[in-house]
Amino acid sequence: MTAGSTGSIRTDIAHNARVWNYWLGGKDNYPVDRAVGDQVVSMYPSIGEVARADRAFLGRAVTYLAGEAGVRQFLDIGTGLPTADNTHEVAQRIAPGSRVVYVDNDPIVLAHARALLTGSAEGVTEYIDADAHHPDRILAAIEPTLDLSRPVAVMMLGILNFVLDTDEARSIVRTLMAAMPSGSHLVLTHPTLELGGEGNAEAMEFWNKNATPPITARSREEIASFLDGLEILEPGIVSCASWRSPAPRELAQFGAVARKP
Ligand SMILES: C[S@@+](CC[C@H](N)C(=O)[O-])C[C@H]1O[C@@H](n2cnc3c(N)ncnc32)[C@H](O)[C@@H]1O
Repeated sequence: MTAGSTGSIRTDIAHNARVWNYWLGGKDNYPVDRAVGDQVVSMYPSIGEVARADRAFLGRAVTYLAGEAGVRQFLDIGTGLPTADNTHEVAQRIAPGSRVVYVDNDPIVLAHARALLTGSAEGVTEYIDADAHHPDRILAAIEPTLDLSRPVAVMMLGILNFVLDTDEARSIVRTLMAAMPSGSHLVLTHPTLELGGEGNAEAMEFWNKNATPPITARSREEIASFLDGLEILEPGIVSCASWRSPAPRELAQFGAVARKP
């Protein structure tokens, strides 16, 4: 990637989508992202494993939803840069007619959206450049593509941690899920200081001084409050690496899937 290839992309400060891409072994990042990413690794060595476990959780959750649960519509907020097994690829492999709408607010993700939009011929894959702080705008933008009278899987992986106020994060989830019919699902991952994540505190403090957007960790109790009124599927709110995993392990990133009754 050439620095400055897209006007609005800032290469003087680390951006989450690009650092996440660096931790996942991708090439869509700049020196500033790698420098901050390496510094975080030195404070919190399991962050690369967390990023990989989060993506593996996404794969298992979407496989369950498109398979056993029969969901055919996906709203993936906080998409990140394209990597292996993006939501539309996993869903459309199982059900080619799946309709997937991605939402992110990072200019580099927008620049790569074209790569994301090559879904199956039968399905639909779209991208919306929008901020998760404005769920009403997201709902208005998805309506032509997603039929809100039929179940939707709302995917919020590693995104509510960028909504610093917990009441606001709860209200965003409520607004989105209130618009979805029975049989819809909410899929979450979220960093925590629990599950052995104490090192996260120092790393997040460093992040918030040197990178964007600012981030926060949350407790299991706070994450449970996001799922209020929904049926939390087995095995509950657990390390995302343990959610229906053949190789369960404790990592400081909660994962959960819940169904709207
Ligand atoms: C940690 S990455 C997670 C990517 C992907 N969901 C995953 O789990 O691998 C978080 C993503 O959220 C995006 N993001 C952060 N704040 C956002 C906001 N307020 N609105 C929309 N997207 C946001 C970032 O640009 C980044 O792509």
